[in-house]
Amino acid sequence: MKILGIETSCDETAAAVVEDGRRALSDVVATQIELHRRWGGVVPELASRNHVMQVLPVVDEALTRAGVSPAELDGLAVTSGPGLIGALLVGVQVAKALAAAWEKPLARVNHLEGHLVASFLAERPPEFPFLGLVVSGGHTSLYAAEGFGRYRLLGATRDDAAGEAFDKGAKLLGLPYPGGIAIDRLAKEGDAAAVRFPRAIVRGSELDFSFSGLKTALLHHVRRHGVPEGKGLADLCASYQEAIVGALVHKLFRAARTYQFRRVVLSGGVAANSRLRAAVAARAAEYEDLEVFLPAPRLCTDNAAMIAVAGTHALERGEREGPGLHADAGWRL
Ligand code: KG4
Ligand code: ZN
Repeated sequence: MKILGIETSCDETAAAVVEDGRRALSDVVATQIELHRRWGGVVPELASRNHVMQVLPVVDEALTRAGVSPAELDGLAVTSGPGLIGALLVGVQVAKALAAAWEKPLARVNHLEGHLVASFLAERPPEFPFLGLVVSGGHTSLYAAEGFGRYRLLGATRDDAAGEAFDKGAKLLGLPYPGGIAIDRLAKEGDAAAVRFPRAIVRGSELDFSFSGLKTALLHHVRRHGVPEGKGLADLCASYQEAIVGALVHKLFRAARTYQFRRVVLSGGVAANSRLRAAVAARAAEYEDLEVFLPAPRLCTDNAAMIAVAGTHALERGEREGPGLHADAGWRL
């Protein structure tokens, strides 16, 4: 079964062809990072306009690289939410038009489900059930994944997403967008114990996250001491990163213990963070019966192959979308 996936929910225009929900025959991502960098974040109108220009060439490229003609496809899958509404609409309209023109079935995919199943493209895929942590620029959520299409939300952020904490922190420090990568790189030379940041504790719910206090703590630190240079900046980045990673690891393993999961799957852009990957692997090694699945960084960040994986299973379940499919910016998984 060969499925074409299309993803335009934020600032990457992506298309991919995936076979049997397991193998990416192609995986094309046209990123808009350079376009948004001078504004310090994603500008929704610029994103939509750029998706309009990129989407057909990207789809063409995905088919060409896979060596698959439209007639050989078994179906299409598109991200219809959550995300930026104008950006989502581009992918949804194009997918509907292509599905109608090529007379192929179309499935809609929740972007978060895409992240949760990205690890099925890895050489060693997980099995259900697993505990999934989606950590991206827009989301920080823990899910019990019981099967394709069957997810239960266990905890989420009350305010900023982890990626937002990275991006906003980096902005305060004068680092380029997207901040996660910049902080990750600088932190490698820094001492994570140099500056103490508050541990993000959420009262009431044991598995929820909160990162806005941390960002405020960084703001106060910078107001008091200014933005350091050289080693001082590296120390500050390492300390700030450690506070984010510490909260993620703490809640992830608490959830794994509470619900007795034997598999933990990470995904989303922040799962590409080198310190988070090392900390999760180290912590998991303390458990006898807990396997960790960390997809390669390019599977963690936004891509269309993960959308095609989720779409393959939606089509197998008989789900079909017609011309009435709408983008849903706030679609909850
Ligand atoms: O999943 P993604 O590509 O897009 C969303 O769905 O949001 O995630 C983007 C987020 C950004 O906040 C970016 O700063 C963060 O992932 N990110 C990282 C790293 N690479 C990307 N954060 C920390 N360390 C990284 N290496
Ligand atoms: Zn994403």
